[in-house]
Amino acid sequence: MMIPAEYFGENMGKIIAIVNQKGGVGKTTSAINIASALAIYEKKTLLIDFDPQGNSSSGIGVDGNSPNIYEALISKVKLSEVIKKSPILEKLDIVPSNVDLSGAEIELVKEYSREFKLKEALEPVKDDYDYIIIDCPPSLGLLTVNTLTACTDVLIPIQCEYYALEGVSQLLNTIRLIKKGLNPDLNIMGILLTMYDRRLNLSLQVAKEVRRYFQEQAFNTIIHRSVKLSEAPSFGKSIFHYDIKSTGAKSYLQLAKEVMAR
Ligand SMILES: Nc1ncnc2c1ncn2[C@@H]1O[C@H](COP(=O)(O)OP(=O)(O)O)[C@@H](O)[C@H]1O
Ligand SMILES: [Mg+2]
Repeated sequence: MMIPAEYFGENMGKIIAIVNQKGGVGKTTSAINIASALAIYEKKTLLIDFDPQGNSSSGIGVDGNSPNIYEALISKVKLSEVIKKSPILEKLDIVPSNVDLSGAEIELVKEYSREFKLKEALEPVKDDYDYIIIDCPPSLGLLTVNTLTACTDVLIPIQCEYYALEGVSQLLNTIRLIKKGLNPDLNIMGILLTMYDRRLNLSLQVAKEVRRYFQEQAFNTIIHRSVKLSEAPSFGKSIFHYDIKSTGAKSYLQLAKEVMAR
């Protein structure tokens, strides 16, 4: 007989979707480096690449080719069959993705319980992990809705740039609707400021505005703009494997501590 972990009062694993329908705000960079940091802290972690661009996969040196998340969503392939060990960390696994996933958005429309495909796929494996981190595509379409019904928490990266808050109210509204209907336990874990540039007054303004609006929902850790962070993925490495001494590495380790505390 399987006795559920909560019976013993153990911490249940968290499933964290990294969401923002804007592209280029640091979702993938954050997904890779938060997942890697959690694995460094000895947490068993699964990174799910849920973007047809497959940047999380290539970013840690994993081939996105079939079998990947697409098969686990659309056909009878089990998610456990598409999990790969990451080449960078013992405690980190990945479910890769590639352009096939863009077809799922259309194919799922005609499916029964189309909003719950990812949740259903995760059910048999979720208890094997302390953390599951989902890197979302840059849209609020059916793929992102699947991540919002499957996750326990959302982490929203916001770039310290012009129009940073554009679209955020639409995103918060979508989260509110999902919480009302499909996933009542959904929790906004935090807002992450990314690409902060201390030389720009604009960065400071955005950071101030976000802090004022979101208050303690904003993480204390801010991710600064750093060339090292943008270079690491082209070597298939997390920032910790690319340059452990960089400020980016220190920031993502600090952020992971905040994630574990929330
Ligand atoms: N803190 C940062 N400093 C500098 N460049 C960054 C930083 N975070 C991300 N980038 C770069 O910005 C681009 C967009 O980031 P990415 O994480 O891919 O965003 P998203 O997944 O939201 O589209 C990428 O080229 C990435 O390498
Ligand atoms: Mg991305």
